[in-house]
Amino acid sequence: MDKAQLKATAEKIVANGKGILAADESTGTIGKRFASINVENVEPNRQAYRQLLLTTAGAEEFIGGVIQYDETIRQSTDDGKRFADLMEELGVVPGIKVDTGAKDLADHAGEMITEGLDGLRDRLAEYYELGARFAKWRAVINISEDNNLPSDYCLNANAQALARYAALCQEANIVPIVEPEVIMDGAHSIETCESVTTRALTALFNELQNAGVYLEGILLKPNMVVSGTENPRQAGIDEVAERTVRVLKNCVPSSVPGIVFLSGGQSDVLATQHLQAMNANYEMPWALSYSYGRALQAPALKAWGGEAANIPAAQAAYLLRARNNTAAALGNYNDEMEAA
Ligand code: 13P
Repeated sequence: MDKAQLKATAEKIVANGKGILAADESTGTIGKRFASINVENVEPNRQAYRQLLLTTAGAEEFIGGVIQYDETIRQSTDDGKRFADLMEELGVVPGIKVDTGAKDLADHAGEMITEGLDGLRDRLAEYYELGARFAKWRAVINISEDNNLPSDYCLNANAQALARYAALCQEANIVPIVEPEVIMDGAHSIETCESVTTRALTALFNELQNAGVYLEGILLKPNMVVSGTENPRQAGIDEVAERTVRVLKNCVPSSVPGIVFLSGGQSDVLATQHLQAMNANYEMPWALSYSYGRALQAPALKAWGGEAANIPAAQAAYLLRARNNTAAALGNYNDEMEAA
């Protein structure tokens, strides 16, 4: 493990308000996104869409790293440049999703465990050769107030998998993004989201310490603390910011260089407003930025619609979201910037 390299990579990704583009949708998930715009889920369309994002001029000012899927890290631009090489030329760090998905947790109805540890050491060695310098593993934590979920067993099993993954990444000189996502779907209150997120992060850092993970060389990708989507009381922006920052301060050691939120189904502008409220109003020891999938891509996907003629409009839409989220990571965003 080269600690200096890991720390430098993690810090580079989130320097100067930069964030991460999560473009690591599996073939199944990107199929759902394409279905929403009536685009067929075939390799040439996936290549065209990822190329559109990666060749957006000026995005490298805001985007410090891009998470790719196994197929994407092996793809190239139309003129034959590997996506990972293109990123490296632009100073954008190539990343790779390495988990193989969340599956039902045996004998625990409604709970999930993320798979992908078997053979991971060899896969990480190959991904390093292909240019990856950071990785992602996502754990899925469902809340059900009626069924008393999540169980401690689910939280601990997922935390241990995240820690084993993180240790293997660092051995390979790849920065692990550790992502315990508390899902926002459901009727639960924001108070419940706060307590479950606290339990998930406490279990996670306990296991990371047990595994000997070098905390200066990771990035944390958490959910924000929000009301369940079906809860009648939807907390406002300031409450989300206050509760989220409180949980993070209680659970995340200051040695962690960066926290990069997932968007989790929030609308694109709301995800930006939440990030702004935290950075504008609180002093924090870590860079607090973004690793959004849907909240960075949704307007671009819609503008593209699978038509080559729409690429400039799609790239403009993506660039606007990247620019505004980086402004929010610096506490400099305001609503007028949406009109650009
Ligand atoms: P969303 O921002 O769409 O939640 O995706 C981020 C991500 O990478 C989830 O693992």
